[in-house]
Amino acid sequence: MIKQNQQYDIVRPEPESFLQSARAFGYSVETAIADLIDNSITAKASEIKITYGIDRYTSFVRIEDNGKGMNEKELLNAMKIGSFNPLHARHENDLGRFGLGLKTASFSQCRRLTVKTRNKLGKEFIRCWDLDFVADKKDWVLLRNCADTKSEKILSDFSFDGAGTIILWEKLDRLVESIELKSDKEHFYRKFDNVRKHLGITFHRFIEADEVSISVNTEGVEAFNPFNISVDVPSTELQEEQLSIRNQQIRIQPYILPHESKLSLDERKELQIIKGWTEHQGIYLYRNRRLIADGSWLDLNFRKKEAQRLCRICIDIPNTLDTEWQIDVKKASAKIPDVIRKRVKSICFSSIEKAIKIYTSRGAYIKRKGQKKEIVYLWLAKQKHGIKTYFINEKHPLFELIAEFLSDESDVFTNYMKLVAEAIPVNLIANDFSDPETIIETPLQNKTSALEKIFYSALSILIGAGVSEAEAKKQLNSMDVFQKLNNKS
Ligand SMILES: Nc1ncnc2c1ncn2[C@@H]1O[C@H](COP(=O)(O)OP(=O)(O)OP(=O)(O)O)[C@@H](O)[C@H]1O
Ligand SMILES: [Mg+2]
Repeated sequence: MIKQNQQYDIVRPEPESFLQSARAFGYSVETAIADLIDNSITAKASEIKITYGIDRYTSFVRIEDNGKGMNEKELLNAMKIGSFNPLHARHENDLGRFGLGLKTASFSQCRRLTVKTRNKLGKEFIRCWDLDFVADKKDWVLLRNCADTKSEKILSDFSFDGAGTIILWEKLDRLVESIELKSDKEHFYRKFDNVRKHLGITFHRFIEADEVSISVNTEGVEAFNPFNISVDVPSTELQEEQLSIRNQQIRIQPYILPHESKLSLDERKELQIIKGWTEHQGIYLYRNRRLIADGSWLDLNFRKKEAQRLCRICIDIPNTLDTEWQIDVKKASAKIPDVIRKRVKSICFSSIEKAIKIYTSRGAYIKRKGQKKEIVYLWLAKQKHGIKTYFINEKHPLFELIAEFLSDESDVFTNYMKLVAEAIPVNLIANDFSDPETIIETPLQNKTSALEKIFYSALSILIGAGVSEAEAKKQLNSMDVFQKLNNKS
């Protein structure tokens, strides 16, 4: 409590400095646009149209929706820094929280934000924040119209009938550093490829349910479901779990993706999403069906490792738990509440273990779920004092057979195989794995007939060495390299 009759000063923020600081929330262009789409979806838009232009004179990004629009008072409030108190309850479908997104997301990319809106009565209103005008006037001056004829032209028409809102970004100083070079333009277009992908995954549930359609420069954004990668090979769904905080439900559904060797080339490319397959492992946190984290271990202190990359854990939370999850203004990060942290960590841990098994067995376990079967590996890994080495399994039946066959000469073969293990290009493979553009295949990955040839040649050698045909097939079928041949009988 403040003592009564205290004296005080009023210290208002200096407009330009404050707005400059509001530019540094750390948005990327894709998280900034997603923040505006949140507003459109909350305003019940079913269509959202993003267009952009880039040339020396007029570079802009324009985001139009057919939502409920705003009247003048609502528009003024929308343009205010801090339109709403974050502590106030929101409608259960509201994707907002802080009353900041429209401004912070826009200023992270541009120096001029104009909003034109039409309410359901057909009345149109415009307001514009221009950071240079604010700096010039040294006050919170919000223009009541478009700043110039270029803006007017871009905002002249609504594309949809009825109510709706257009957000226009101009003076894109953060998005376009210079457009003198062709490569700058290409860089700009590439950014929008990522925007398209980001929106496809962030709002995939809305697009899949036909509630919203989004287009970027007339091309529709396709939904991208991060757990449902392949049409032919389903992801493994582990046990779903429901937790609750203050009677509010949290749903956790871990998935293990199919091993990449089971996917088509296009499906494998899709797995990369934006940051690469390994980076996209982890928790996918949905707040009101909108994706907040697209693969992150949040604050669980798990490292992102290649071998865990098949693990994706879907967590659904309502907007009533924003404080507990410490949702940030960008809607791009969160923290796991202490009360459920231990349980979530253990679910993630056991899912990771299962994912590693599938990954290291090249997917062999998916098909043989339920069946206990010993698999014999050609390569083995050993860890001692934190140092990992990979070596060729000298107890492998084929290895033993060849060594026995060569008898006195077997040293030549054994030493040669040791050299093969010694020369394995570990650094090169590790480097290639971390590059999202590179898809790694083994030499016979898609050459089943060549692999079959080796199978039958090994079979006849084994039979020639006195092993019964049934036993020889059993031995070969248990080898890791022949798993993709679906057991020859
Ligand atoms: N496209 C739109 N259609 C209708 N109203 C909108 C639109 N965009 C913004 N608004 C109004 O402006 C308000 C302020 O938006 P802003 O994104 O700044 O904050 P918020 O969505 O309330 O919270 P957050 O900071 O979490 O995004 C919204 O609450 C909404 O009332
Ligand atoms: Mg918002």
